[in-house]
Amino acid sequence: MDLFEYQARDIFAKHGVPVLAGEVIDTPEAARAVAERLGGRAVVKAQVKTGGRGKAGGVKLASDPDDAVAKSGAILGMDIKGHTVHKVMLAQTADIAEEYYVSFLLDRANRTFLAMASVEGGMDIEEVAATKPEALAKVPVDAISGVGLAKAREIVAQADFPAEVAEPVAEVLVKLWDCFVSEDALLVEVNPLVKTADGAIIALDGKVSLDANAGFRQPEHEALEDKAAADPLEAAAKAKGLNYVKLDGQVGIIGNGAGLVMSTLDVVAYAGEAHGGVKPANFLDIGGGASAEVMANGLEIILGDPAVKSVFVNVFGGITACDAVANGIVQALELLSGKGEEVTKPLVVRLDGNNAEAGRKILTDADHPLVELVDTMDGAADRAAELAAK
Ligand SMILES: Nc1ncnc2c1ncn2[C@@H]1O[C@H](COP(=O)(O)OP(=O)(O)OP(=O)(O)O)[C@@H](O)[C@H]1O
Ligand SMILES: [Mg+2]
Repeated sequence: MDLFEYQARDIFAKHGVPVLAGEVIDTPEAARAVAERLGGRAVVKAQVKTGGRGKAGGVKLASDPDDAVAKSGAILGMDIKGHTVHKVMLAQTADIAEEYYVSFLLDRANRTFLAMASVEGGMDIEEVAATKPEALAKVPVDAISGVGLAKAREIVAQADFPAEVAEPVAEVLVKLWDCFVSEDALLVEVNPLVKTADGAIIALDGKVSLDANAGFRQPEHEALEDKAAADPLEAAAKAKGLNYVKLDGQVGIIGNGAGLVMSTLDVVAYAGEAHGGVKPANFLDIGGGASAEVMANGLEIILGDPAVKSVFVNVFGGITACDAVANGIVQALELLSGKGEEVTKPLVVRLDGNNAEAGRKILTDADHPLVELVDTMDGAADRAAELAAK
C-alpha cells in the first residue's frame, strides 16, 4: 500500500526522522489559515500517489497567505499523470543548501534489503541512477543485523557525503531504518533529504510503501488506506476475506489454490483469443475450504461485476474433496436466489481430483439450467470463453 506524502511525513515524525510542520487541506480557502499558522510563507504540494509532482507544476512556493490560497487553487483539481489532485499539503519552507537522496527497500531480486543513497538528490534521481550509476550507492542490509550507527556510517561513506553532514545523516538513517522495520514497510524513500543553510538535516519529501500482508499486526495502518480510490468490488471482497483481484476481462474465475487460479487465467486468456479476444475478469482463490458460504460469497462478488459474461469454476479436489465443492456450488446458487440475487450468467464447472466423480454426479443431479460441466481445464476454458463472447 503506497502512502501519500503527508502520511509518510507523519510516519517519519513518529520515528524521529526530522520533518517540517505541514497541514493537509482540500479547498483553496483553507490555505489562508494554514499559511498564517506556518508563518506566512509556505510550500504548496499536490498530494498524489505518483512521482514527478514538482516538474508537473504540483509543488509551488507561496510567499504569503493570499498567495497560498491562489497556489492551492491552481494545484487542487490538477491532473498529474492521470491522478487528480484532491488534497494539497502546505509545508513550512526550508532554506535549502544541498539536496540528497536516501532510501531503504526490499530487494526481491537479491533476497535482501537494500540501502540506496546519493548526494545528488532532488527531482531527478531516476536520471542519476540511469546515467550516473556510480553516484547512487547501493548497500545491501542484513535483515537480522539491520542498520545501526556503524552500518549507517558505511552507507554514508559509500555515497561520499560531505564530512560535515556525515554524522547527522547517519543518525537520520538509523531512525529511517527503525521506521522501515517497525512499520513493516517495503520502501521508505526521502528525496530530497536536505541540508539547510543553517546546517540542519531535514526530510522534505517522503515516499512510503507498506506491506499489506503485515496488516494483521499493524492495526493503525487501516486508517491510512485511501478508501475513495479503492475498487468497490475489491473492497467488498476484502470485507468478506476473499483473495480477489479485479481484472478487465469478461470471464469470471473461481478456483481453489493460487497456483491453479493463476494458470486458469492463462488458459482462459489463451482460449479467449479464438473467441474475439475475451479475457479473464478477475483472480479469485477460494482456498482449501470451499464451503457453500465461501462459494456464495465468491459468486456474489464475481456476478456483481457488470463486465462478467460467464463464470469458470475450476476446482482440483485435494484435502477438500470435489463432492464437498459441488455441494457448495449447489447450495451457493440456492443461497443467492434466496437472497433475491438470481444467477443469470452461465457457469462452466470443471471438477477433477479427489472424489471428482461424486462431485460431477451432484451437479448433474441438481440440473441447474445455467451450470455446465466440462471435463478438462482447457475444454472448460474454451467453453467459458465461447459463452462470454456470445
Ligand atoms: N518545504 C520545502 N521548502 C522548500 N523547498 C521545497 C520544500 N519541499 C519541496 N521543496 C523543493 O521542491 C522540490 C520538489 O519537491 P518534492 O521532492 O516534494 O516533489 P517531487 O520530487 O517533484 O515529487 P515526487 O517526489 O513526487 O517526484 C524539492 O526537490 C525541493 O527543492
Ligand atoms: Mg521528491
